[in-house]
Amino acid sequence: MKLMQDFEMSIDNASELSFVRKMFDIIAPRYDFLNKILSLRQDVVWRRILTDSLKLKHGSKVLDMACGTGDVALGICKKAAGPVKVYGADFAGEMLKLAKPKIEKAGAQSMIDLVAADAFEPPFRHESFDLITIAFGIRNIQNKPKILSEFFTLLKPGGALAVLELASPGPGPFRDLYQYYFNRILPLVGRFFSGNSFAYTYLPDSVSKFPTATRFATMMRNAGFSSVRYRKLTLGIAVLFLGQK
Ligand SMILES: C[S@@+](CC[C@H](N)C(=O)[O-])C[C@H]1O[C@@H](n2cnc3c(N)ncnc32)[C@H](O)[C@@H]1O
Repeated sequence: MKLMQDFEMSIDNASELSFVRKMFDIIAPRYDFLNKILSLRQDVVWRRILTDSLKLKHGSKVLDMACGTGDVALGICKKAAGPVKVYGADFAGEMLKLAKPKIEKAGAQSMIDLVAADAFEPPFRHESFDLITIAFGIRNIQNKPKILSEFFTLLKPGGALAVLELASPGPGPFRDLYQYYFNRILPLVGRFFSGNSFAYTYLPDSVSKFPTATRFATMMRNAGFSSVRYRKLTLGIAVLFLGQK
């Protein structure tokens, strides 16, 4: 109930969604489990496509913003042929707490540093990173032009940004089926397993508000990125955007 009030207040204030951090802190213990169930493990495939798209070099410095429980950061370390340094940043402490043992289990402590930070207050110098990734995070950030400019500033010249996000499929029978699943079934399953009714109602709502792929690509260009391209995944229910500084 309180989350719903925060949600409405954030929308009224047209500010960043203050309830988002609380929501992820609450659902953190069930987050990985529910991702796998609700996406039928497609989330694993999408993150792998994201990490496969990155040009990692020996010593690459990577920021995985909105890293959550660390799957992208771990995927990057797994993919890298040599040593890389990944900073996994997120403002939800409970998500980061879950990332830590996963990183330790993978023996990747020397390659990944976890940082508790808001995307708009990153504790990094300008032109620090060769790569920035953000998976399923940008949908939760209201001021997309501003955050894209922030990413542009944090990248070194020649650096690259990869954004993975959920999307709505184009018109057709698959969309009808998917919408039924996403808007009706998913909130029920999410509520059942997480005990939180709000988070899994907010999820389809936030996806429906995410700009079309062409519009988001234009936002990236407007923020200064070049060679912007995107790839629709699994009949368009996720999209991977890539751009260069
Ligand atoms: C859907 S989860 C994605 C987590 C992870 N990237 C993954 O692939 O599973 C979204 C994450 O974005 C984080 N997030 C949302 N807005 C943020 C912000 N302004 N600053 C930092 N983290 C943010 C949330 O705390 C949450 O952990």
